[in-house]
Amino acid sequence: MDYRALASDFQASFSQGADRYFFSPGRVNIIGEHMDYNGGHVFPCAITYGIYGAVSKRNDRLIRLYSTNYSEQGIIEFTLDDLDYNHVHGWANYPKGMLYFLKENGYNIPHGFDLLIKGNIPNGAGLSSSASLLMLIGEIIHKLFDLNVSRLDLVKMGRAVENEFIGVSNGIIDHFIIAFGKMNHGILLNCHTFNYDYVPLNLQHYKIVIMNSNKHHEWTESKYNERRDECEHALRHLQGAINILSLADLNMVQFENFKHLIPTKTLEKRAKHVVTENERALNAVKELKRGNLPALGKLMNESHLSLRNDYEVTGIELDTLVEAAWQQPGVLGARMNGTGLGGCAIAIVDEDEIDQFIERVGEIFRKKIGYEATFYVTAVGDGVKELNVGSVH
Ligand code: GLA
Repeated sequence: MDYRALASDFQASFSQGADRYFFSPGRVNIIGEHMDYNGGHVFPCAITYGIYGAVSKRNDRLIRLYSTNYSEQGIIEFTLDDLDYNHVHGWANYPKGMLYFLKENGYNIPHGFDLLIKGNIPNGAGLSSSASLLMLIGEIIHKLFDLNVSRLDLVKMGRAVENEFIGVSNGIIDHFIIAFGKMNHGILLNCHTFNYDYVPLNLQHYKIVIMNSNKHHEWTESKYNERRDECEHALRHLQGAINILSLADLNMVQFENFKHLIPTKTLEKRAKHVVTENERALNAVKELKRGNLPALGKLMNESHLSLRNDYEVTGIELDTLVEAAWQQPGVLGARMNGTGLGGCAIAIVDEDEIDQFIERVGEIFRKKIGYEATFYVTAVGDGVKELNVGSVH
């Protein structure tokens, strides 16, 4: 992104110059899907697509927000004394919610600010644009007013905004990776303890290709909640016989020994996904550390199959993309990404094969599904950060 474009958009919107610039990435999850609310391991990374913010502090208590992605909504204004959810404010409820939770948690925000937002994350694609926006706002407020709030607290507040202010249930993975991401590294995160480990994501001559099904999440609140309820239900039955706090505490041997306690086949399949996916995530990181990329790719493929057959959250669009990807030369592995039933899948592809890969997978998708998929090649980038003016590009 060209810094001058951001600066001139700010000038055009607020009739003055911006003081500071920030960036917050989107994310992909290499492996470990539907694990964060099951106390398991995830292995996501931040990507180089994301949301930019240009900001300047005000002397009064007014907040003025403008997003070039929602230009039809114009400048949205409110004051620090009126932070209630307001559906008319649309996307601006995310910044508002972050301000609300910071205030609730005792942080003093003395002044308002003018903020221009410009993002290049495809919306509704499951690359966490909302978590990216929340972490952007959190970091901006933290830096602007020297709040001294820890990254983990920002992460927890970001999730609270989505769960309690916006009313969407989700886990911690997206906010965490966006806040803690590091260039060329993935993070192995234990979603139960929040212990984490940076692991070099050295993909040699392979690159991450994002395959957008352009089907917006059909993953309604109720579907996501249904999976969460199913997992809790299975857990409760197991807890009668074995001392575990979450499904991901089980290893495969224990699962085989105790699965008869789970009352239905469907619940058993959900639990099986959790147990196997947790092991796959841990093994994938082990293989990556050894430099065994084919083994990492194979585990990603197995993850997709488990999400398709046991967790049942893939759907024809994502299956078509992933199965087409598996057939192409130079592909290490491919799997759906994020919530599922729409949004994106990812593939790890030899850089020399990427053009042909996009052409062939795109064609298979178009023939079977009837419209175009979109492809993005991404690098592994940093988490949310302030930009030196010279580096806004
Ligand atoms: C959504 C949620 C995440 C996580 C994924 C599935 O993206 O926001 O917290 O549960 O689904 O891995």
